[in-house]
Parts: sequence; structure tokens; C-alpha cells
Amino acid sequence: MKVYAHRGYSGKYPENTMLAFQKAALTGCDGIELDVQLTKDGKVVVIHDEAVDRTTGGNGYVRDFTWDELVRFNAGAICGGKYGFQPIPSLEEYCAWAAGQDLVTNIELKSSVYYYEELEEKTIELVKKYGLEKKVFYSSFNHMSLVKVKEIAPEAVCGALLLHEGLGNAGYYCDRFGFQAYHPGCKGLTEEIVRGCKEHSIQVNVWTVNDMGTLEQLYEWGCDGVITNYPEVCKSWVDKR
Ligand code: G3P
Ligand code: MG
Repeated sequence: MKVYAHRGYSGKYPENTMLAFQKAALTGCDGIELDVQLTKDGKVVVIHDEAVDRTTGGNGYVRDFTWDELVRFNAGAICGGKYGFQPIPSLEEYCAWAAGQDLVTNIELKSSVYYYEELEEKTIELVKKYGLEKKVFYSSFNHMSLVKVKEIAPEAVCGALLLHEGLGNAGYYCDRFGFQAYHPGCKGLTEEIVRGCKEHSIQVNVWTVNDMGTLEQLYEWGCDGVITNYPEVCKSWVDKR
């Protein structure tokens, strides 16, 4: 079972920052999950919320700031300044770093609340520019974004993200859309759904797995991956099994 660091090593470091990604890499985890959106001037940036408020202490929407404006916010603020100033990374900065790492990256396209025109095209362009095509897979709660990814890059690996209620026929659903993976929230997942995915050769990567009981259960069910805020703990547990 693979271990992916959710927004980097976000259990300990400011989420979706280069610091959180570098610290995740040091845990020996298999990969990193991150979230992308577009600035007002069309730059792909790594941030979870549509607004900067919760993580930076600033005020306003990502889509209303240019890159030059956005990069002044302190994404380290979410940890109370403990880690100093941590800029919001651009996806390009992340890709340049990831090209030298033995890690896979799950890029989550944040296109459900606001639909960002060209987020898919621009993201794929950066992945290609840094030669990361085989080390990246995409996910989104907006499954039309994944359909679009498949149109632009048919070979891209995609995972359908679902909230905790999930989908009863997840294996069939992903198969029909040509998605290779199912990414459900951990609370509503059942062994039967995992089995259904396996019958359709669909991988199951579950979020956000932050407790040992859930980790063990998902392992027993044969899930393919967990997305966790604590990659160090999960990775060492999985390695011992
Ligand atoms: O991709 C898994 C997980 O990140 C989905 O939820 O809200 O943390 O982006 P969220
Ligand atoms: Mg995410």
C-alpha cells in the first residue's frame, strides 16, 4: 500500500508549501498530494482553499490576485509563524523540485467551487515541461476536469475524487469514464466497494487517513494507497507489514 503525503507533510508543517513537500520527501513516503488553482493572471499555484484567508491570514480569493500579489502572502501563517515566511508555491517551482525526487505526485485540480478555464491545459503543460508525465496522476472532485485531462493527455492517470459518501458502483463508474483510480473519503468506504473496484482493475486511494485503525482496515481490504497528513507514521507502519 502506497503512502501519499496530503498537502505535503501537513500534519507538522504548513500545508502546500515547499517546506511541507521537502519534509514529506524525507519521510520516504511514496508520493505527495497537492492542490492547484489559477491566479488572476493565469499562473498555476499550489493552494487548497479558493480564498487565502485560512492558510495565510490574508483576505481574498486566489482568482482575484495576480501571481506577484499572491506570492507576498505567508502560507506559513497557518502554523502561527513557527516556520517563518513560506510563500505559496507555483506549480512550476514544485515541478522543478519534483523532477529531482523519487516521488510521484497526485495533482488535485481544484475546479469544483470555481471553474478555472485552462487549469487542466496549463497544469499538463508544466508536467510535460519537467518530464513528470510518468510520475504524476490527477484527481478532482469535478470529474469533467478529469475528462478534459484525458482529452488533452489520453495517457494521463486519473482518479475520481468523492466525498465521504462515495459511490456504490465506483469500479464500474471509473471504468466507464476511463479513470484508473477511485479516491474516496475514508468514512463511507466499504470492503464491498473496494472489491468492486478490484473487479474493474480500478485502484483505490483513500483520503484523509490519520488514524491507525482506519489505516489497518484499509490495508486489510487491499486498498492501493492512503493520503495522510502523517506520512512518517503511515509509511513506517506499512513498511513493517
Ligand atoms: O485528494 C485528497 C484530498 O486532498 C481531497 O480533499 O479537501 O483535502 O483537497 P481536500
Ligand atoms: Mg486535496
